[in-house]
Amino acid sequence: ERQRSFVTTSCKAFDEMLGGSGVPAGRVTEICGAPGMGKTQIGMQLCVNAQILSSQGGEHGEAIYIDTEGSFIVERVVEIAEATLEALNAGKDSQDSQTIEQFLSRIHVFRIHSYVEQVALINQLDDFLTEHPKVKVLIIDSIAFHFRQNFADMGLRTRLLNGMAQHLRRFAEEFDLAVVMMNQMTTRVTRGQGSDNDSSVLVPALGDSWGHACTNRIILSWQYEVRYAALVKSPNLQECTIPYAITSKGVRD
Ligand code: GTP
Repeated sequence: ERQRSFVTTSCKAFDEMLGGSGVPAGRVTEICGAPGMGKTQIGMQLCVNAQILSSQGGEHGEAIYIDTEGSFIVERVVEIAEATLEALNAGKDSQDSQTIEQFLSRIHVFRIHSYVEQVALINQLDDFLTEHPKVKVLIIDSIAFHFRQNFADMGLRTRLLNGMAQHLRRFAEEFDLAVVMMNQMTTRVTRGQGSDNDSSVLVPALGDSWGHACTNRIILSWQYEVRYAALVKSPNLQECTIPYAITSKGVRD
């Protein structure tokens, strides 16, 4: 097997949880969390970090961001890119530097308004990826949004989701890129004896079988002012929970 490449999250503990260097190419990583947990911030950070130069330990790649909720904010990406460049160039003569415009031009953003658009785009991504072989990370924020409300035909939903999962796995492997899909959380009620004993827990959206769509699954949470990321499913890595932070500069330890 050839050497696998990674895209760093800019948080050492997060990278280590994923095996050392960040989200792995060739794999599908799912990041689940309630609104405000940081999924979009992590997605934008990865789009920037995929572009770090080889001489600076990166992949010098490009990124795709599939935005289903309108959460991609260019001004925030600029802020994250500036902070990333500053950290990389600190104490060095910056011959190797890139411009913010270059960073932005290498993030290919697709805004999706319906599940039909989402399925159509994913079906057509083969051509785009063939034309853009430097793409190292493919973010979908979020996979579930257009598949949750008002979806009457559950059989159709299952078929469409399975089809997307298959495409995403194949993109990761064939184009050697890291697929990162964001997912929402949903409430699951467990019936006790008598309605007073019902209990509810937050679980990743789209049901149990969707859990097979990813290689690694991470759940984000928040407790007493600290953000946590938990690796809850992986074929080869130790399940664990790590704290991480979101600062004005982006994702950090
Ligand atoms: P939804 O898109 O609503 O599902 O949420 P999400 O999980 O994508 O959350 P998102 O990535 O939008 O994270 C929002 C969080 O990032 C908020 O808690 C903000 O506090 C934090 N955040 C965003 N920008 C900044 C910033 O400039 N500085 C700091 N310190 N935190 C920020």
